[in-house]
Amino acid sequence: MPFGHRPIENSLVFFVVLLLLSSIGVSVQEVLEEEPVYFYVGCYTARTDLFKELVYAKMPQTCIEMCEHQGHRYAVLAAEKCFCANQLEPQQKQDENLCHTRCMANKAQYCGGVGVHSYYSTTLLRQPAPHHLRMVNSSENSISLAWDAYGSSKLLLAGAAEALAPQTQQIANFLIRCRVMQTYSTLPAFQQPEFIVQGTETRFELTDLQPATLYNISVRAICVQKQQQMGDEENECGHATIMASTEVGLPSPAPAQPKILTRTENTITVELAPVHNNNGPVTKLLVIVEFVDNALSQPFDAQLLGSWQDAQQNGVPYYIAAELDYDRPEDNRTRHFVVGDNKRYGRYRNVPLEQLSDEHNHQNQPDHVHISLGVESTLRNITKTLYTRSGHEQHASSLDDFSYATFEKGQSSVVALAVTCVIFGSCLLLSLITYFYLRYKTCHGRGLTGRGRNAHEMTQQTPIIERENNGYLVEEELPPTLESFKQQLQSTIDGFERLPRNALRLNANDVIGEGRYGEIITGRINNMDDGSTAATAAVRDSALHVLALDDLNGTTQAQLLRELRQLRKLQHHELLLDFYGISASADWFYLVFELQRVSLKRRLIESRQAAPALRLTVLTEQLVLQWMYELSSAMAYLGSCQVLHRQLTAYSVFVSADSKLKLSVFGPPHYVNSNRQQLDLCRWLAPEVLRHQHHTTKSDVWSFACVAWECCALGGTPYANVANGQQLLESIRAGVRPAQPAYVYGDLYQLLLNCWQLEPSERIGFEDVAFGVRQLMTSARHALCFDRSSSDTMETLPLYLPMLETSN
Ligand SMILES: *[C@@H]1O[C@H](CO)[C@@H](O)[C@H](O)[C@H]1NC(C)=O
Ligand SMILES: *[C@@H]1O[C@H](CO)[C@@H](O)[C@H](O)[C@H]1NC(C)=O
Ligand SMILES: *[C@@H]1O[C@H](CO)[C@@H](O)[C@H](O)[C@H]1NC(C)=O
Ligand SMILES: *[C@@H]1O[C@H](CO)[C@@H](O)[C@H](O)[C@H]1NC(C)=O
Repeated sequence: MPFGHRPIENSLVFFVVLLLLSSIGVSVQEVLEEEPVYFYVGCYTARTDLFKELVYAKMPQTCIEMCEHQGHRYAVLAAEKCFCANQLEPQQKQDENLCHTRCMANKAQYCGGVGVHSYYSTTLLRQPAPHHLRMVNSSENSISLAWDAYGSSKLLLAGAAEALAPQTQQIANFLIRCRVMQTYSTLPAFQQPEFIVQGTETRFELTDLQPATLYNISVRAICVQKQQQMGDEENECGHATIMASTEVGLPSPAPAQPKILTRTENTITVELAPVHNNNGPVTKLLVIVEFVDNALSQPFDAQLLGSWQDAQQNGVPYYIAAELDYDRPEDNRTRHFVVGDNKRYGRYRNVPLEQLSDEHNHQNQPDHVHISLGVESTLRNITKTLYTRSGHEQHASSLDDFSYATFEKGQSSVVALAVTCVIFGSCLLLSLITYFYLRYKTCHGRGLTGRGRNAHEMTQQTPIIERENNGYLVEEELPPTLESFKQQLQSTIDGFERLPRNALRLNANDVIGEGRYGEIITGRINNMDDGSTAATAAVRDSALHVLALDDLNGTTQAQLLRELRQLRKLQHHELLLDFYGISASADWFYLVFELQRVSLKRRLIESRQAAPALRLTVLTEQLVLQWMYELSSAMAYLGSCQVLHRQLTAYSVFVSADSKLKLSVFGPPHYVNSNRQQLDLCRWLAPEVLRHQHHTTKSDVWSFACVAWECCALGGTPYANVANGQQLLESIRAGVRPAQPAYVYGDLYQLLLNCWQLEPSERIGFEDVAFGVRQLMTSARHALCFDRSSSDTMETLPLYLPMLETSN
């Protein structure tokens, strides 16, 4: 007898238990033959709130039967004290060894300990159903569940384990099902499938759920009972349900773009359409004013978005003008809102617009304001905000039907597609009309005045332009589609260092260059992980290439991917502009480089102006040769990494404060001058590149020699006597090269000529160039000499003609 002698006074209670058991379908006969099954549940922290229910019981069985009779699920024992309980707090679970007090009547059993109680289950808990089903984690789209299941291994009732184990039902599987109870979504809800997991599992994660939605989740245990003749029998052996909710998600769909109704000097009245959100409640509507400068493509950074004052401090051209509540039914109607009425809405002041334009109008540009919206959704202390951005079509009422342009790619490309279709359609129509009109006119003309003259007139109106075939495109990659471009981009940048967005401080208005992929602005990196002393060491000035990915055409996309792949091949090198990493959000990419503001070109030109009386420049011959040597070493390094530069000029090389060269390898050269004119590369390009875009290391060698010549010429313009690219190719073919200044001696100039061989294979390589320059450096003044021999040397200094170097 595992439980020891049962006292006679308890047999009545036992009879009641038997009745109970029979009523839940267990054969009375079976139970009479074997002892009823009790679970030892575990050792838990003592609960003082139970003391008022106290009874005395010398051993667990007495206590269990008593509690069961009263309809309780747990019997709690501490020495001779017995309590009943219905709940079990899993976090109160203690180490089994703490419950070491032996029970008075049966020393084989345990009855609590110091500050702890021993818990036994009554038969009401006999089913091994999932107990204590709970949500352990949730996100926008998932809910993680956990539960306890008392398997046979938990039958720790001392001395009884082996005898009882075979009788326990084994859980074969859990069936998990969830149903939507409450949701914000108006999307058709799809039925969640029923999941089946192994009976040994005690955790499950439901995924692909709708955000901010309440679910009724049930977990049912399916048990298998061994039957002697008929095989195994499956039946449900208990279930548990909970209600659980996913987190609020980013508002979707994007709100309609506000429609501009009227404007005055200080205000703009907009119409706000009702906002709907499938991923949570709409809590607040933010009205955002953006001052648009047509000349710049400005990034929009939600982290810098704030009040008008914040915008002033950070120098960003957008701010939140109002925070409108969205909790009353009338908020859901189409509303009018006056931007700039100088009232307070929530945390923000709706500043009159004139104040803003005064700030920004210093360049006499007409001000141009876009009104955008932010949708804020808050649920259970979590807030998600979607910012949308209005486009120029906000002003063009004819385009109101395509009325939103948000950050979401899908939608903006739909808009773009629609606009393209309309434009294309109009063009087609127009050309058809023109065609028939001209045909009509020609026929009439023929009829009236004979044919020759009018036919001639027509060809004059639409001449067929034969384009000089000097620039057909040879790219290694075909222009990818936008989708595959994004994928390729993602995989290309995967290896790059990521800079957290909040570590970057952007000077959005300090645009130092503009290239094919977007602007180059300045900024700083604050290194976050350096802790509290970061202020001193970790701040680095940087140049940020702002990539406007959506604006790139196929060829440019291919070029960008190629340049990024090249960047990946390069290591940190003291002669290359340092690449710090990328900071990317869904919509904007910043490539962050070391900031150097002084290009080699500028340094050379400025050295002329500061020259002492008897010299052409403040620079020494030694330093100029040093630069040529450093540049050829840097180029040799690129060659060893199989990287072609393709756009090497004195503008793509920088000189640091301590006169070290820093070669920029990514992107086109920065602006040529403060007028933001772009560089025309052709004066630096090898003839085979000018002719048919054929780039090799040897074409980089040609460009290098042009930069080396600029060093000698103190920033002079190569081929200052040749006007444009077309003549340039002819001149080069005819043997013209940048001229030899009088103060550059034969050995050095010959080295340059060796780089300027018409036939690429006859040009020397970068290792040879570096070696040659190194030799010349042993006696710099015999390679070139910047001394002024007579007063008219100014004439012999090569001319610097910036307008020849820019493209118009
Ligand atoms: C909850 O889920 C998030 C995201 O899946 C995870 O980062 C976090 O560690 C989880 N928390 C717990 C307690 O499991
Ligand atoms: C949740 O689902 C279970 C079974 O699927 C059901 O018994 C229970 O009543 C439901 N709860 C609510 C609140 O609807
Ligand atoms: C908001 O308005 C739309 C239609 O205009 C309606 O379908 C929706 O139920 C309204 N929502 C609320 C919260 O009143
Ligand atoms: C929400 O946050 C506040 C303060 O942070 C806290 O007092 C409150 O209990 C939280 N509410 C919920 C539901 O988490």
